[in-house]
Amino acid sequence: MSVSPFRLPDGFLLGTATAATQVEGGESGHDWAAFCALVPSPIRDGTTCLRACDHWNRMEEDVALQAELGCRIHRMGLEWSRLEPEEGRFDEAAFAHYRRELELLREAGILPMATLFHFSLPLWLARKGGFESGAAAEALERLADACAARLGDLVESWCTVNEPNVYAVKGWIEGAWPPGRKGDLRAAFRVMRNASLAHVAAQRALRRRLGPSARIGFAQHVRCFDPATRAPWDVLAARLLDRLFQAASTEAMATGRLSWPLGRGAPQGRGDFCDFLGLNYYATDRVRFSLRTGYRTEVPDGAPVNDLGWIIDAEGLARLARRFHARYRKPVWITENGTCDAADAFRGEYLAAHLAVCARLAAEGVPVERYYHWTLLDNFEWAEGESAPFGLVATDFATQRRTVRPSGRLFARIARTLRYDGPSVL
Ligand code: FCB
Repeated sequence: MSVSPFRLPDGFLLGTATAATQVEGGESGHDWAAFCALVPSPIRDGTTCLRACDHWNRMEEDVALQAELGCRIHRMGLEWSRLEPEEGRFDEAAFAHYRRELELLREAGILPMATLFHFSLPLWLARKGGFESGAAAEALERLADACAARLGDLVESWCTVNEPNVYAVKGWIEGAWPPGRKGDLRAAFRVMRNASLAHVAAQRALRRRLGPSARIGFAQHVRCFDPATRAPWDVLAARLLDRLFQAASTEAMATGRLSWPLGRGAPQGRGDFCDFLGLNYYATDRVRFSLRTGYRTEVPDGAPVNDLGWIIDAEGLARLARRFHARYRKPVWITENGTCDAADAFRGEYLAAHLAVCARLAAEGVPVERYYHWTLLDNFEWAEGESAPFGLVATDFATQRRTVRPSGRLFARIARTLRYDGPSVL
């Protein structure tokens, strides 16, 4: 990978994305904390989200880091279990804390996006079945209303639900995340469907309170599923995975319309439920099918991969942004993009390559307006624990010392100048 110089369009906004459970630490009222406490630990390195980056107590320092990185925008999570520790009881002190964080961001000239659901459920809701039942959509609608009422003057844009597809696959098919169920396809699609419809309900609640100027959307995980060969079974398997994993749930969130495998009709009504298309993009998959093993994803020899073995393919972002924009005709916001690279050996090039794609798309007329890098700080990376560093800033978890990486300095230069001058500056 060698990236040629490029210029991003005027007005393009760069910043970082984080999720509450991955950075805050100190909160035990959600299903992720309970999951981390299982014995033996389901987390690769045995760490728990109770530590994470102690961001709850260090938000001033972390907002200062964002300012140092030249961020103009930031996507942050609101921890549901802090805001609503018991069903129907909102904790005003937790709202006050988030108000302070939002004010700090505003004072630093950073426009905040708030995410309502990013993978962790208050224990009371997890016990009621979470997104396996319709209860979660109702509860998310109530949370959205409470947040809009208390934080609506400070939040610049809203993300209702993060990645219903990854959430369902990890929790109900792979069993790697709460509730730890393996191979339960029916439940996985029910969760994907309910979480997508919860977006619609939450969008409505936010819109009711905040009016037509509010900018509300979702963040969907999108991947390119490419067949490993031109054999028709590989081509079909790749198409099928695309539909099951991302096409159906994106359609449900954007329009309210259910399609196979999520169901039929539009239980929450049809409409136009996003002001931007939030795409979380990391990698491409090569799909191979055989009667013996079913479908598998594989890495072709010599393909560039990150520390977790994910195929690096900036061009995939171009294909997906074109495709989803052509279908939904909304501005594209890259709500997550980043890579796991402990040595910081290729993060800078990864960043430049994906931003070069944004510049090219904008020149083609695809309105890519924003880029939120995943992520600000090495954090608690779900089942990988503290072992998978995605940060522009390195975190020493024992001392909580933060150190800006060279890729972070490159990010800051691009964020400030909207230009990349070539690899010589790396
Ligand atoms: C995304 C998640 C985010 C983080 C990155 C690496 O799927 O939304 O929380 O785990 O992957």
